[in-house]
Amino acid sequence: MAKIILTGDRPTGKLHVGHYVGSLKRRVELQESGGYDQIFIMIADAQALTDNADDPEKVRQNIIEVALDYLSVGLDPAKSTLFIQSQVPQLCELSFYYMNLVTVSRLQRNPTVKSEIQMRNFEASIPVGFFTYPISQAADITAFKATTVPVGEDQMPMIEQTREIVHKFNTVYGETLVMPDILLPENKACLRLPGTDGKAKMSKSLGNCIFLSDTEKDVQKKIMSMFTDPNHLKVEDPGQVEGNPVFIYLDAFCRDEHFARFLPEYENLDALKAHYTRGGLGDVKVKKFLNKVLQEELAPIRARRKQFEKDIPAVYKILEEGSRKAEAVAAQTLADVKQAMKIDYFADQALIAEQAKRFGEG
Ligand code: TRP
Repeated sequence: MAKIILTGDRPTGKLHVGHYVGSLKRRVELQESGGYDQIFIMIADAQALTDNADDPEKVRQNIIEVALDYLSVGLDPAKSTLFIQSQVPQLCELSFYYMNLVTVSRLQRNPTVKSEIQMRNFEASIPVGFFTYPISQAADITAFKATTVPVGEDQMPMIEQTREIVHKFNTVYGETLVMPDILLPENKACLRLPGTDGKAKMSKSLGNCIFLSDTEKDVQKKIMSMFTDPNHLKVEDPGQVEGNPVFIYLDAFCRDEHFARFLPEYENLDALKAHYTRGGLGDVKVKKFLNKVLQEELAPIRARRKQFEKDIPAVYKILEEGSRKAEAVAAQTLADVKQAMKIDYFADQALIAEQAKRFGEG
């Protein structure tokens, strides 16, 4: 069976280093591995509208930001199909049919939906579109017959829900949809990178993100003012590395070779952590090291972005062509689905002949 990847992001803001270690970097590795027959990367604007219905301009503005972020990290339109969700109308149609296979109580139990409802103070009045977005996500995944969905752990409930829909569909209507598997990040620190302020999550509104599109100066400023261990006041004090964002970032980004080049007095991160824990190692030194590591990772991304920014119409062209290609694939799956559901009246010559005979005989 063909190995197919589908994944994507809501265009509600520029992508940050959390997205990068959590998924973007992996996507590029998967793209370059040659292990997949097809890769679809979707800008999930329709899903973004489920909780931003009153702010379409925000979604519209961020399409190009996310596209530039994709291209600048190395997603290559020659190898991966980059497309916009709303431009593939078959996804809506699939969602509509999948809705018959999911109960309201099952959606209410989806942990990600639950916490998002709380976060957005939706309790009293949940928009139906928002409530059902896990179903639309199942449409996204199944439309492309995806076998592999590389996402962060927060998306686990969505993939679970998709798998249930696939199972139910295939049981009721016959083997039609492909069962997808989730592919989680390997590095534990990458599961979720905290904000630079130490808050659990990077979020634009908290101003605690390092964006892929930040300038070198911005990145340096953000790193040098990062939250660390609040009890590590003097250099001599013993410091804590657990829960310390500077060390979590190092867990995510640094490799032994970085020490050889930027901080040769330590062999590796364990040695650096040991010194910090013991006391006698200042935050500034660790932050300067993190800055070097991160700048090295971000420099080529920034350079590539500059190139793509020079020809924005070409970027929209990439998305348009990708969307057309995606639509053709989704149309085939929709045809399979409609046939399985017995709603393919005009394509079913046997049905027409049978009915003609029935009425002809009457
Ligand atoms: N829910 C994902 C996010 O919030 C975006 C998304 C929409 C997605 N449809 C998808 C991810 C299908 C993977 C597969 O970023």
